[in-house]
Amino acid sequence: MALKGLREIEPYVAGSQPQEKDIIKLNTNENAYGPSPAVKEALAGFETETLRKYSSLDQASLRQALAEQLGVAADQIIVGNGSDDILSMAFLAFFNSDEPILFPDLTYGFYKVWADLYHINYHEIPLNDHFEIETVDYLADNGGIILTNPNAPTGIFKSLEEIEAIVRANQDVVVIIDEAYINFGGETALPLLGKYDNVFITRTFSKDASLAGLRVGYGVGSPQLMTVIKAIKNSVNPYNVNALSEQLATAAVQSWDYYEETCQKIMATRDWFKAELEALDFSVLPSATNFVLTRPAGVSAEDLFKHLQTNHIYVRYFPKVERIKDYLRISIGSQAEMEKVVQVIQEFLP
Ligand SMILES: Cc1ncc(COP(=O)(O)O)c(C=O)c1O
Repeated sequence: MALKGLREIEPYVAGSQPQEKDIIKLNTNENAYGPSPAVKEALAGFETETLRKYSSLDQASLRQALAEQLGVAADQIIVGNGSDDILSMAFLAFFNSDEPILFPDLTYGFYKVWADLYHINYHEIPLNDHFEIETVDYLADNGGIILTNPNAPTGIFKSLEEIEAIVRANQDVVVIIDEAYINFGGETALPLLGKYDNVFITRTFSKDASLAGLRVGYGVGSPQLMTVIKAIKNSVNPYNVNALSEQLATAAVQSWDYYEETCQKIMATRDWFKAELEALDFSVLPSATNFVLTRPAGVSAEDLFKHLQTNHIYVRYFPKVERIKDYLRISIGSQAEMEKVVQVIQEFLP
């Protein structure tokens, strides 16, 4: 019998997580290198008995470590179960105007899903022909703005000056900057926090800190924004961060030198890989992330996607997204993995 009250939802479709061994997994922008030795030590030393109790309500030690790393006050930080958790709460907390919120037509696919889920009116603004965010498009009246910087799935970074111009022109609404990929060559908007109360920056441990499976992310903003988003957290899931995650993420922050090195390695491999693809006449968007968006030449995106998969190499293909249906998004793995990818592509080309 048809049930009353059931909702119809078009959910976000996350990248697949194949469980086979011996694959090269380049489809969800995970880190090619493992967590830091300090994280492994913290895991080995974790006291299982403590799991009897609920996790902390405010992640004081992790927030303190982050505050020192980022140069902000600990009470400007909120921690979540991945940055998806933070972003979802931020939509609930900050986007309650009748006017539409604005975000690009090509960006993190979850924004649209949350807007629909929470009945938030939105307007998707097309990126320009070079897949860039145009500052002028964000100067109209709106109910809030969310931008990924560097953007995904394009990889393109927008300068801090231009981000500031958008923030400055929109001081009556909240502007969220999703910095999931910021440590692969971008410049953070954190300095804007000292000047503007309407900026909220989100970060994740899933990419640069190589802890996607741990599920930790955080948001940074003014006291005014913190009060509202904390109220949301306490209305949905007060113990949203588990005890193990808090301890291991803290160890990650305290061993950040290791991650600076791995990010450098990934960036060097990315630039090498981009040059290799361009030598094959592929077009590759400029990337400040740990992935590239590329349009193959001499072969269709679909055929190359299938060929790579036959060779146990998983990348992301978006056949339903009109503007990039001829492109593949390829995460940057280790240098050896990317050499293998280039070899498999070369073998397939006519
Ligand atoms: C732009 C962007 N924001 C947020 C996330 C979510 O990250 P997580 O929930 O793993 O912290 C992702 C994950 O791919 C992303 O690409």
